[in-house]
Amino acid sequence: MVETYAHPLNLHGRRSSADFAGPRSDAGMGAVPDYLRTHYWWAYIHPRSVKFFERQWLVNLILWGNYARLRDAALAQLGATLPGSTLQVACAYGDLTPYLAQNVASGDGTLDIVDVLPIQLQNLRAKLPAATPARLLTMNSAQLQLPDCSYDRALLFFLLHEQPSNVRRQTLREVFRVVKPGGKVVIVDYAQPRWWQPLRYVWRPLLATLEPFALDLWRNDIRKWIPADYASRTESRSFFGGLYQMTTFTREQ
Ligand SMILES: C[S@@+](CC[C@H](N)C(=O)[O-])C[C@H]1O[C@@H](n2cnc3c(N)ncnc32)[C@H](O)[C@@H]1O
Repeated sequence: MVETYAHPLNLHGRRSSADFAGPRSDAGMGAVPDYLRTHYWWAYIHPRSVKFFERQWLVNLILWGNYARLRDAALAQLGATLPGSTLQVACAYGDLTPYLAQNVASGDGTLDIVDVLPIQLQNLRAKLPAATPARLLTMNSAQLQLPDCSYDRALLFFLLHEQPSNVRRQTLREVFRVVKPGGKVVIVDYAQPRWWQPLRYVWRPLLATLEPFALDLWRNDIRKWIPADYASRTESRSFFGGLYQMTTFTREQ
């Protein structure tokens, strides 16, 4: 049994208050992926971990003091006011989504946030003001139960490094499918640090131990996982000696 906050296919028209009423039960919305259960139980699954990690200073520390910078870069890249439909693929600890929701509200747009873990969506719900125009949907990023070409933009904030290569590829395929031609996909994640970035040497063994798929993003350009049948323009910006990247794909017609 999986909890969800709104029916994922109810995308027609403006959202009613019933859409935000959750949680409620919906069977068959997808199981917890093995990689999450095996490698990230300590970070996302256990109620105590959620309580522990949901601290702004701690997520900032994990990002070596770069949380606000990366959050603000992503928000600026998406746009200060966000009309139309915005999708955030996977929750993030900290105040990213409350800020994103403000920008959506000021553009009179709509926001959907999907996550495969109901506990993460519950945690997010508690961070959002009650009137936030957001739907929180229990869903696997690699199998989005969302219509083609239905979003003007999508944000993936530190999701891809957690996923095994095949899941990452499938997530990006799904995200490109649901974003409209002309729409943007903004990805913030790890990248290969420059040779002079000292954390390159400290962080590598830690990542290799704690986040076994993250080093893929050190070794490879993120475009490796973009589906070849979706043409897109790419722009990339790097942060903190290259340890982080923000890469934006604009889907072509
Ligand atoms: C996006 S990352 C957050 C990264 C970063 N550590 C932070 O909190 O700022 C973690 C989230 O991704 C979610 N997640 C991981 N794999 C997923 C998948 N296949 N589908 C949907 N959500 C997923 C987890 O449940 C978790 O809430």
